[in-house]
Amino acid sequence: MRFSESLWGNNSIMNDSSELTSSQPEFHAFGACEIELLRSFCLIIFGAAGDLSKRKLIPALFHLFQDGLLPDDFFIFCTDRVEMDTEQYRAVIKNALAIALPKDFKRSAWLKFAKRIYYSQFSYTDQDSYRRHLKGKLPTLEKKHQTNGNRVFYLAIPPSILENVIVNLGEAGLSAEEQGYSHIVIEKPFGRSLETARNLNKILTKYFEEKQIFRIDHYVAKETVQNMLMFRFANSILEPLWNRRYIDHIQITATETLGVEHRAGYYEESGVIRDMFQSHIFQLLAVTAMEPPAAFKADFVRDEKIKVFRSIRPFPTERIHDFIAIGQYGKGAVDGNPVAGYREEPGVSPQSNTPTFAAMKVFIDNWRWNGVPFYLRSGKRLPIRKTEISIHFRQVPHMMFSKVMDEIIEPNVLVFRLQPEEGINLSLQTKKPGTKVCLNPVQMDFSYRKDVFLDAYEWVLLDCILGDQMLFLRQEGVEETWSLLTPAIEKLETTTDIARFPNYAAGSSGPEEARLLLEKDGRAWRPLFAEKPYESAHITRLRGHKP
Ligand code: BG6
Repeated sequence: MRFSESLWGNNSIMNDSSELTSSQPEFHAFGACEIELLRSFCLIIFGAAGDLSKRKLIPALFHLFQDGLLPDDFFIFCTDRVEMDTEQYRAVIKNALAIALPKDFKRSAWLKFAKRIYYSQFSYTDQDSYRRHLKGKLPTLEKKHQTNGNRVFYLAIPPSILENVIVNLGEAGLSAEEQGYSHIVIEKPFGRSLETARNLNKILTKYFEEKQIFRIDHYVAKETVQNMLMFRFANSILEPLWNRRYIDHIQITATETLGVEHRAGYYEESGVIRDMFQSHIFQLLAVTAMEPPAAFKADFVRDEKIKVFRSIRPFPTERIHDFIAIGQYGKGAVDGNPVAGYREEPGVSPQSNTPTFAAMKVFIDNWRWNGVPFYLRSGKRLPIRKTEISIHFRQVPHMMFSKVMDEIIEPNVLVFRLQPEEGINLSLQTKKPGTKVCLNPVQMDFSYRKDVFLDAYEWVLLDCILGDQMLFLRQEGVEETWSLLTPAIEKLETTTDIARFPNYAAGSSGPEEARLLLEKDGRAWRPLFAEKPYESAHITRLRGHKP
């Protein structure tokens, strides 16, 4: 069930009288839940011929359409610099959908969906494009599809032209909410430093109000990240344990097997800390560490996350390597296939110092978490794709079995598997049946399996159309994370010796420095390969006996 802070009530006041009778949200039964139904809208995509649109956005819309989660009255107005007409663009999208949704592509649905797609070639820097294509064409289509002037501008474009597009939209008067709503959706990165993030925001808020702005981090919309909030705050047995008294440390891991692919232009400027930590990993940290909000409402939840960011201890830049380890992949093998090193990838400088891996130790200086380290790691070209949050509880206070057993008792670990194989796992110690004194680690495992119906992009699309800002970032949060990371990134960029990279082979578990970061504290990373719950079980043995 999703609780939505819908803006429909407001919009219905502005719409015709038939809308006034139905200002209450309506819900659609979906699996075991109910999903709030969308009303008429027009989605305007900038960068519609790009990768994000073809691989994520339009497949997500099509999936929602096939599942009956889009209203009858909608259309998608696609723009890009590429020269094409609507028919050619529809053919491109048909191919993209067949690739993105090989099992889910239904021709009959496509024929209906295609009629709602339009394409206009666009020059993003030319003010005239906005007048001719948007102000000129939208009203006719809006009338045809009866979308009541509700518009969502989705900017799936490179950061380098983002500000230009926002200014041009605003100057063309397209941010004004004359008939219906006008929402703007922007993708991370929100700037590349504290200063640039502030500038971007200044431009955004010159034309749009905060309630119109949707800053996407698709990690926040992942089913299991949302589940973290429910799991923490809907189970009373956890709250007494969720603090420094019972938790030794927390690990957050987001590893990928992919390399930089064809995104060198962006990635060379960004690197892993800007790309993965500033938003994705810090959002995971926030849902793990935040206090319970007074209500499950967008601003209440976002306020609590911001308080976490404000409590993070700044990195001591003079000892940065005690807190952050970075790496860059060299050549190696992933899934048994040889792959190139980062510096040999197309578009990457042979002397590049861009990190593709980082591991960090973070402290949250507040009452709940004082002294509990949060270890964060993320990297490309690692042996598996895995995102998880693991809560490592403290060791039992007294080893009363130590005289009869030859190994220490493994502390309990609660793992939230965010992807793949979404689920939750808790390791516990039990007695091994048939033995006198022998512990047997067992796993309580919950798996979402096929229950994950909607992917992150489907959720964010639904919510930015509905006007529910729960899954989107607020500017204060963006600035808090940049103010923590900008000095650290600058220090690393100015002190990393070019000869230091590459320092991990593609397909390995990352650089040695990352291992040492935890080893110095007497801890170890969860192995990347312990994927299946039962594979990770270590058997604690009775002295002298093989299990
Ligand atoms: C994006 C990053 O935001 O997230 C990419 O720019 C990264 O570099 C991707 O590959 C990972 O997303 P997911 O959902 O596949 O874990």
